[in-house]
Amino acid sequence: MGKSMAKSIATGKAKKSSSADQRAGTTINIGIGEKDRQAIASGLSRLLADTYTLYLTTHNFHWNVTGPMFNTLHAMFMTQYTELWGAVDPIAERIRSLGSPAPGSYAQFVELASIKDAPIKPPKAMEMVRILVDGHEAVARTARSIFPLADAASDEPTADLLTQRLTVHEQTAWMLRSLLEE
Ligand SMILES: [Fe+2]
Repeated sequence: MGKSMAKSIATGKAKKSSSADQRAGTTINIGIGEKDRQAIASGLSRLLADTYTLYLTTHNFHWNVTGPMFNTLHAMFMTQYTELWGAVDPIAERIRSLGSPAPGSYAQFVELASIKDAPIKPPKAMEMVRILVDGHEAVARTARSIFPLADAASDEPTADLLTQRLTVHEQTAWMLRSLLEE
């Protein structure tokens, strides 16, 4: 038995790393192993890319919507892009809290996102609504796919964030879908 193990048994404490990093407080020891933290962070990176892409598409549609529904949709899209813009920050900062860098470039977002960029030619108003329904549903699927990882690692803050995002995306998809019904 090494000296330090004997000491930890004597003090009843688990052996801790004594590396320079640990002393400097730069390693992460929150009770979630590195592999789990990385897997959750990479799921959250996909969620960030999806959320950012949907944000930009919704803002684009706010600018470019035309037709008799202009007032309604212009205002509705503003509410939605404002909410999405507010969501990217907590997702990115959760990734940082787990110890990974947060993606923040268009090249990374294209690589990571499950949804496509907005079409270059602005679609008709109801086609915009259809694209946004698909977008919110896709982001909901991405968020839902991360739950098993968060649950298995007892990562409650991530599970809480995912629950909040799912609530918004499922509700927004319902509201947009309602516009498409007769
Ligand atoms: Fe505006």
